[in-house]
Amino acid sequence: MSFGLSNVKDLDPTGVGIDLATAVPPLPDDILQRPSAGHLPIHSWFADPSLPLEIEIGSGKGTFLVQQAPTQPGTNFLGIEYAHDFYLSAADRIRRAKLPNVRMLCIDAGEFIHWRVPDGAATVVHLYFADPWPKTRHNRRRMVQDRFLQDCLRVLKPGGELRIVTDHNDYWAWMEEHFARWTKPNGPYARVPFLSPPTAREGEVVGTNFERKYRVEGRDFHATTLVAPMVP
Ligand SMILES: C[S@@+](CC[C@H](N)C(=O)[O-])C[C@H]1O[C@@H](n2cnc3c(N)ncnc32)[C@H](O)[C@@H]1O
Repeated sequence: MSFGLSNVKDLDPTGVGIDLATAVPPLPDDILQRPSAGHLPIHSWFADPSLPLEIEIGSGKGTFLVQQAPTQPGTNFLGIEYAHDFYLSAADRIRRAKLPNVRMLCIDAGEFIHWRVPDGAATVVHLYFADPWPKTRHNRRRMVQDRFLQDCLRVLKPGGELRIVTDHNDYWAWMEEHFARWTKPNGPYARVPFLSPPTAREGEVVGTNFERKYRVEGRDFHATTLVAPMVP
């Protein structure tokens, strides 16, 4: 699939794209007995491994990362995008923008976070305009699931944030059902209003490609932030 990207062969992820063959080895056979054996030294993938890490799930063509990362040079950003052409497009843009604090990974983000991200590795997980999988028989493919909310709780530092924006009313209702189980008083997360990043343009919630596309269509957006507890 070309995803409307006509010049994919010219896209160059050098220096930005993570090489899966070397950086993401197969899980060990006894992974179920030793879940932490699958965790990877993600911070070492960046020029300055000492910086805090934010993870964006489903980066698309990388607009959020290209806008936000230059304003936060003291933060590393890992973008995860499983559609290869979008991954290439994002990595190429990031390379051309010369952003040493951004790396891109072409992999399934839900599985990666579940198996590969160490405990307390991230300060923020961003999930913007995730695929809604509207057919009932496909709902299980949605990123927001109980397992995902449990995983984010594990990989976020105390007080870390899961930031979510969607345009999709049915998916939002699904998320609300999940949030009710995972936020206070029933669950561990605190729920606070979503704060737009400074790079969002006037009237925007976060300012990704899909937000801009859907805004033209007159769609409404839903947004929230879940905050991990200060004591893990
Ligand atoms: C609707 S697009 C939104 C892209 C971008 N966040 C934006 O707002 O413009 C959803 C993106 O998430 C990616 N995606 C969906 N499921 C994913 C998964 N499990 N792991 C990584 N990327 C995923 C899709 O390939 C697609 O690029």
